[in-house]
Amino acid sequence: MNDVVIRVEALSKRYRIGAKEKADRTFREVLTDMAAAPFRRLKNLGKSAPSEETIWALRDVTLEVRRGEVLGVIGRNGAGKSTLLKILSRITEPTKGRAEIRGRVGSLLEVGTGFHEELTGRENIYLNGAILGMKKAEIERKFDEIVAFSEIEKFLDTPVKRYSSGMYVRLAFAVAAHLEPEILLVDEVLAVGDAAFQKKCLGKMDEVSQTGRTVLFVSHNMSAVQSLCQRGVLLRAGQLALDGPIDEVVKEYLTYLANGSKHAFDDNPERSGNGLVRLTAARVLDESSRPSQHLIAGRRATFEFAYKNASEAKQANVILTIFNHLGVAVTHLDMRLTNFAMGRLASSGKFLCTVPDLPLPMGQYRVAVGVQVNGQLSDLIPNALVFDVESSTFYDSGRSPAVKWCACMVKHNWSHDISEPSGSSRNDGEQNVVRS
Ligand SMILES: Nc1ncnc2c1ncn2[C@@H]1O[C@H](COP(=O)(O)OP(=O)(O)O)[C@@H](O)[C@H]1O
Ligand SMILES: [Mg+2]
Repeated sequence: MNDVVIRVEALSKRYRIGAKEKADRTFREVLTDMAAAPFRRLKNLGKSAPSEETIWALRDVTLEVRRGEVLGVIGRNGAGKSTLLKILSRITEPTKGRAEIRGRVGSLLEVGTGFHEELTGRENIYLNGAILGMKKAEIERKFDEIVAFSEIEKFLDTPVKRYSSGMYVRLAFAVAAHLEPEILLVDEVLAVGDAAFQKKCLGKMDEVSQTGRTVLFVSHNMSAVQSLCQRGVLLRAGQLALDGPIDEVVKEYLTYLANGSKHAFDDNPERSGNGLVRLTAARVLDESSRPSQHLIAGRRATFEFAYKNASEAKQANVILTIFNHLGVAVTHLDMRLTNFAMGRLASSGKFLCTVPDLPLPMGQYRVAVGVQVNGQLSDLIPNALVFDVESSTFYDSGRSPAVKWCACMVKHNWSHDISEPSGSSRNDGEQNVVRS
């Protein structure tokens, strides 16, 4: 049919592991996604000649998108979502197959990818308009709206490489949403901004989709995906696992998540220990006790580990270490710290560890889990679980500090005492205002 605007045929992309080319990464990824780097390095430990290994980030994906469709692209981390979008926006080439875009040249814009890091915010707005084939006057007409939406007015003349990831994404999203490309690609924008900005983005996306524009929306926020999209595609290890009505696709994805991260337990060369007590599965449960990889700071989170005990062992000690994307051990949870009395080990069972108000800033995390029996290491899995913290209710503001400044959040209260030299009159209070 004629109104097909994106046609993807038998698309495959192979990457060499350990050879992540710089040019392939969007600037936002350098800021945020590099998150995954320590994991990737860990994954390669103990394997021979990692530079020779390849991975199919996409395998034989066939897909058509019609004009005006708002398509949700979902899947676990590493499923190939960003690779699909990067091929569509021509940041990277497919290894096999084709990806065709119909429409005028420059009709497609991926949030942030048209940004040049040496240029200022103002220059990038004009640059992106030019990429979309807009005239200077047209861009000028949109300029104020973009600046108002992004809330970065004070930094308009600062090169965007100095922006925080939040500022960067706010501007990138504002540019993409206001410059009216025919096709808009949005990759995990909501994962970076604060709660207020997420809400604003969702409102804007809704507006954009009402105007007949085609949108490909990648997000882990299932309620956002369900409210914006009619149709969804589920990627699983680079393959198209399902293409259909969004509710069905989300349901399938959640069921799939519920099966936990099996691969960490089968045939994992990083695993060590004498094996008296072995872990067999791990999951993270959200505050509704549902399996999830995406948690909210300030809410309850539970780490669940199933074990098998084929030995005579009667007691064990379980320890968890949570690492952030920089590889920093953020916290360590250990049964001995809380004087937990586990009772007698059975031949199989589950250990559950509940954190009432998850104090982690937004970002990506990895959990290493260890079991000790009689002071000896029985099982150690360095990458038992991977999860994201996607938004925050930890502080009443809904804000979350950047991981750069904060590995772990602490409840705190501010007060304000005014000290005036005796005899002086009260000032206007201006210098006592503390700005956050
Ligand atoms: N430039 C690259 N070089 C090597 N491997 C890559 C590169 N980009 C992505 N990958 C790998 O390809 C797979 C799919 O990645 P990606 O498309 O980013 O997934 P998603 O966006 O769904 O999380 C992952 O295993 C990832 O590590
Ligand atoms: Mg991605």
